[in-house]
Amino acid sequence: MEENNVKKGKSKKKLERTLLTGFQPTGIITLGNYLGTVQNCLKYQDSFNSIFFIADLHSLTVRRDPKELNKASMSFYAQLLACGITPQLKELETADSKKISKTLLFFQSHVPQVSELQWILNCYAAIGELERMTQFKDKSAKHEDNINMGLLDYPVLMASDILAYQTDLVPVGVDQKQHLELTRDLAIRFNHIYGDIFRVPEPIIAKSGAKIYSLQDPTAKMSKSDPNPNATISIIDSEQDIVKKFKRAVTDSGSEIVMREDKPGISNLITIYSCITGKTVEDVEKEFAGSGYGNFKVQVGEAVAAKFKPIREEVERLLTDETYLETLAKESAKVARRIAKKTLDNVQKKVGLVKF
Ligand code: TYM
Repeated sequence: MEENNVKKGKSKKKLERTLLTGFQPTGIITLGNYLGTVQNCLKYQDSFNSIFFIADLHSLTVRRDPKELNKASMSFYAQLLACGITPQLKELETADSKKISKTLLFFQSHVPQVSELQWILNCYAAIGELERMTQFKDKSAKHEDNINMGLLDYPVLMASDILAYQTDLVPVGVDQKQHLELTRDLAIRFNHIYGDIFRVPEPIIAKSGAKIYSLQDPTAKMSKSDPNPNATISIIDSEQDIVKKFKRAVTDSGSEIVMREDKPGISNLITIYSCITGKTVEDVEKEFAGSGYGNFKVQVGEAVAAKFKPIREEVERLLTDETYLETLAKESAKVARRIAKKTLDNVQKKVGLVKF
């Protein structure tokens, strides 16, 4: 339903509107990330001022090996570029305070204004509403030995990311919807007290693919933290591995290839195939009527492998040119800091901090 949000706000020209989203650098872009969010980023990036970033601060809420995190973050940056996120170096270098470059891709931690804004927003967020967040409850249960403040405060940093850049639209998967609702509440609460400070963002949630399930447990979200490597597909998996994992995918009883509630495994595969090929669910059902699960799983695997092959090759190429990646990230962050500073200055003034 929320893809309709793109059409709202027609009075503002599209390019005056800002689209933003972030990704935690957990090493790989999964098929879930790709279908749930990256595809929408690619679909809309040219129609808006598009801001994309690697949410490295968010990923500190669970313990990570520093070297691994550092490497994973650079690799993630290259993976997003390889998928087709396209900041233009020339445009970035000539962007001034009035004209911002159309697409930015940077590291969250390179824009300290967002963390400064987070402190202020913290003072307007209730502990009760943060404790109610599903992701906080899930992650606390998973990391019982490390229920830290960051885990609880995670959605306020996310709100700060979104509000600092005066974002209109946020492409995300279903799992982030509740955080978006909190962001909207915070923006409205703040605007109610201090006037029209923040744009109130709308989510863009893909009509199909907004929640891709594990290949080993089709009732659980596909997640990069899943310890079973057969559960998750990554955009940089080899073609053989992708096909192998699909062959091993858990399916349901019966043999019919139809999208139905009592067939979560096959429904997940139909969604994946439909999103990758652009075919409708009805067409997929027709195409595979009477074909049997074994053949269908191979066909889905091959379609996904063919889609990701050029992306994997491009990642390998990009990772040999770290200077280019670094320059692009630095120049993007420069523009991002300028936008965030404008919002932060305004907020600091409005809440009464002394500004010289
Ligand atoms: P992250 O890194 O967990 O996921 C990145 C994006 O991928 C979507 N996603 C999925 N979609 C469909 N099926 C799945 N199985 C699946 N798994 C993940 C997520 O919904 C997300 O859109 N907190 C965010 C990062 C973030 C952010 C932001 C996003 C930080 N600040 C501001 C938007 C705006 C996160 O951890 O996403």
